[in-house]
Amino acid sequence: MPPANPRLNVDVPGRKWQQIEAFAAHLDFARRAGHWLDWCSGKGHLGRRLLGTGQKLTCLEYDPALVAAGEHLSQHHHLAVEHRLQDVMAPSTAEHITAAHTPVALHACGDLHVRLIQLAAAKGCPQLAIAPCCYNRTAGPHYQALSTAARASTLQLDLDDLGLPLSETVTAGNRVRRQRDQSMAWRLGFDLLQRQLRNRDDYLPTPSLPSAWLQKPFAEYCQHLAALKGISIKEGTDWPALEAAGWQRLAQVRNLELVRNLFRRPLELWLVLDRALYLHEQGYNVRLGTFCAHSLTPATSCCWPNNLWISL
Ligand SMILES: C[S@@+](CC[C@H](N)C(=O)[O-])C[C@H]1O[C@@H](n2cnc3c(N)ncnc32)[C@H](O)[C@@H]1O
Repeated sequence: MPPANPRLNVDVPGRKWQQIEAFAAHLDFARRAGHWLDWCSGKGHLGRRLLGTGQKLTCLEYDPALVAAGEHLSQHHHLAVEHRLQDVMAPSTAEHITAAHTPVALHACGDLHVRLIQLAAAKGCPQLAIAPCCYNRTAGPHYQALSTAARASTLQLDLDDLGLPLSETVTAGNRVRRQRDQSMAWRLGFDLLQRQLRNRDDYLPTPSLPSAWLQKPFAEYCQHLAALKGISIKEGTDWPALEAAGWQRLAQVRNLELVRNLFRRPLELWLVLDRALYLHEQGYNVRLGTFCAHSLTPATSCCWPNNLWISL
């Protein structure tokens, strides 16, 4: 892939651009693409980065504001790009993908990249590349396996299981981690209190409070939550003991997470391999790999740096 036009990354957040560069650097198709199809393109940053002399680019995106922003950027860079407003889950999408396209999808969540895989295979696209993510963004309550091998497996995955690969926060700094720990410890402490006061051993959902509340004394924090839930607090509550119990419960939660987290990466690889096997069954040669450093993935859901390169 030739180096990017140096002005192309203007307006692209640094980490996003680094991901795009890493994705582009790993593309190694047997034949040069004639017409890129950027699937769930957002503003079309990836497509514009890939677009070379004599090539075409179509971007499919369903958010009108992103389509408009993408058009604006393409005009700004004097690139003839078609930014099409399209819900890729709609039946009409089949009209916009042909065997002439080389689809690429960077972080098209759940059903969105599955739809691409299925349509591209049905239309005979000779090559495509995706970085799948957010396996839990799917319409049904359970995982619908794609490949014959995964369909034959006894593994049943629900939405909660499918969210496991996304549950790690990669980029949070120490301050954010400390704040998150404190918030959870305090909520766990309040949970003990509300069980005593209501004389009911069950969980009571409470609204999340702005982080400024964590600067106040623990007692005040609990009193506020209690007031929000219409619970009155008795005199003589031992706040230091309650807070310590909250931190103790947090330690238990973190230990349970350690066990759960052992399954995170294997589960993600199982899901990625299901996609790879499905495409292999459709006649593609599939390459599966990691395209960027773990530290480049964003803090929230999307996405582990898995990459499927696929060509017929
Ligand atoms: C995580 S973003 C990735 C954007 C872009 N590929 C990138 O890497 O910068 C997912 C994109 O999918 C778009 N999207 C979500 N559902 C869609 C749908 N049904 N049809 C088309 N685009 C969709 C969102 O608006 C968003 O721009």
